[in-house]
Amino acid sequence: MPKLHVNVDHVATVRQARREHFPDPVLWALAAEQAGARGITAHLRMDRRHIQDEDVKQLKRRIATKLNFEMSLDPEIVAIAIALRPDAVCLVPEDRKEVTTEGGLAVVRERARLARIVPKLARRGAEVSLFVDPDLEQLEAAALVGAEFVELHTGSYANAKGRGRERELARLVRAAEAAHELGLRVNAGHGLDYDNVGPIARLPHVEELNIGFAIVARSLFEGVEVAVGAMARLVERPIGPRGSNGRVPTARGERRTET
Ligand code: PXP
Repeated sequence: MPKLHVNVDHVATVRQARREHFPDPVLWALAAEQAGARGITAHLRMDRRHIQDEDVKQLKRRIATKLNFEMSLDPEIVAIAIALRPDAVCLVPEDRKEVTTEGGLAVVRERARLARIVPKLARRGAEVSLFVDPDLEQLEAAALVGAEFVELHTGSYANAKGRGRERELARLVRAAEAAHELGLRVNAGHGLDYDNVGPIARLPHVEELNIGFAIVARSLFEGVEVAVGAMARLVERPIGPRGSNGRVPTARGERRTET
């Protein structure tokens, strides 16, 4: 069963709304670990809209689980990752105007740049993952540039309804199988919440799910322990057969909204 990795970006979003020193995403991450997070993810964006440079240094120093550093291919951010030496990195596309990470990385188009950056990060001891749409061409290119993992983008699945969601789930199942066949290890994430996570936790070969917004939002009502604990149970002990769309009850019916 996959492990739950919790993304703490949106704790920092609240702090940055007032340029305050609280709420502290590092303290929130430590509480998330106590509640069952098996890793912590943070995205240091080029515009520093939420996570700040000092946050990632403190996360690296203080958390007990794995630090997954989400990052663009920007040379300044690559230099920070090289110095930081996180346990894992996930390379994502980044556009200053977007509200959140939109599509997956254009691995085919960025092949030459990735073929330089991926081994550099791997030599610093990081598991290197590429955030990709569930698309065979992108998966083949990810294997060619030497990535160890892909993180399958679950945003289209999360946004789809009815039969559309079933189609997106089937695409993710095919992509997870294809990635495995190509020798890639598989993670997944984006847009997952307490209602839609069940079928994703049952995807074949998936090792880690990265989930942020829904957990941070629920923690405002019920605290970190309940919010992380409830998601950890859904991820690590999914109910129902693989590939079924078994719905999972939620206390407050959280839906993902773009942020
Ligand atoms: N994985 C990646 C690569 C992401 O960019 C994000 C959003 O920062 C997530 C997972 C988590 O998405 P969400 O906050 O919607 O759970």
